[in-house]
Amino acid sequence: MISTALASLAMFGGRPVFQGPWPIWPRVRNLPQVLSRMESLLQTTRWTLRVPGTQPSLTEQFEEKWAAISGSQFALAVTSGSTAIELALRGLEIKPGDEVIVPALGWYATAAAVSRVGAKPVFADVDLRTTCLDPIEVEKCITPRTVAIIAVHLHSAIADMAKLAEIASRHSLLLIEDAAQAHGGRFYNQPVGSIGRIGCFSFNQEKLVAAGEGGAVVTNDKELFQRMYTMRTDGYTHSSPSNDVFFSDGRYRGNNQCLSELHAILLLEQSFFLSEETQLREKNAAMLDQALAIIAGIEPLTSTLGTTIRPFYEYGFICLPNAFGDWSLRIVAQILSKETGIDFHETDLPVEICPQFAPECAAKAPPRALQVYQHLLVFHHRYLLSAIVADVVPLAIQKVLAIAREIPSAYLSA
Ligand SMILES: Cc1ncc(COP(=O)(O)O)c(C=O)c1O
Repeated sequence: MISTALASLAMFGGRPVFQGPWPIWPRVRNLPQVLSRMESLLQTTRWTLRVPGTQPSLTEQFEEKWAAISGSQFALAVTSGSTAIELALRGLEIKPGDEVIVPALGWYATAAAVSRVGAKPVFADVDLRTTCLDPIEVEKCITPRTVAIIAVHLHSAIADMAKLAEIASRHSLLLIEDAAQAHGGRFYNQPVGSIGRIGCFSFNQEKLVAAGEGGAVVTNDKELFQRMYTMRTDGYTHSSPSNDVFFSDGRYRGNNQCLSELHAILLLEQSFFLSEETQLREKNAAMLDQALAIIAGIEPLTSTLGTTIRPFYEYGFICLPNAFGDWSLRIVAQILSKETGIDFHETDLPVEICPQFAPECAAKAPPRALQVYQHLLVFHHRYLLSAIVADVVPLAIQKVLAIAREIPSAYLSA
């Protein structure tokens, strides 16, 4: 009986619930247009915005478009999301000795950027249902050295920007958004990125707008924008609105963090599909939420109250303790992956217990970050572009649950 049940799993040679195919990512939906624009560009001698011209460069055209998409007056394209966060911190003149509150759970680039500018990342615990910063925990982390909070919109959720903004304002702190996983999201109908003082985006190849690599900062603060422009552009700034001359007044030490014009073409074309794809992901995720909500032991993540558009960078669900008997989360992920062709995986280790942060940390993760890490399974947004995800995932979970509840994990390796 045990061997028959196990043999029904795709992992052990059984028939999978679904064999695919799934949408691939990254993808270019308008390849002829992209190639033709690239061919035209390569016949010019202006492959970077750092070559002055009488017309806006492609990077500047993308910046104008991204500013509009993210509801901000100004956008600056940069080489990566990590660069964007670092540029934001430098632009805000955050310095050694300052403390910056970041979530205890999330991708390490956020805290790493804080360390790179010499400040100290302080890790606040997260909300169990959204996996984003818990405002109550943020307030507990504030000290006289705290200068800023970085809210990360993680997995599929938007952080509680209303409460975080209120805390930031009450304690005179800067509020930065790491929206690397939240392109096109809205909170009380305001685009993410434009809620804090600066918003940071990534366009790496996994992201909701993908260009291989790339990033952007957005802000409504003109002076800050000009400072970041100079820092990004080798210390240079525009001398005239027509952008035909660059000059440096030598005030800020610059760095070259510019994108090439080839990337700008990709971003201009890729961002065209963001809204349509976001609607599709939201629709399919809503069907999946409904189907999973009735499975005992499984709880889909939610977003903060006030979320108008949910970005869905990764779809995630909590597997309550013993939902899959004594099977580990990692083995459940592997078995579900075989059943569906979807790459299910655990989320990243809480930042505080990640070895790269050992010098800054007590090596002890806050309890809820740890709890989420121990119980959350996620998969990439590309699967949400197909409606069949809402049938396949619940079927696979039910199949595996039924077997896991009957058969102890010891039999898996027997
Ligand atoms: C939340 C978050 N912040 C920052 C980054 C860094 O972006 P990049 O890989 O473009 O440097 C990422 C990328 O994975 C991210 O998910």
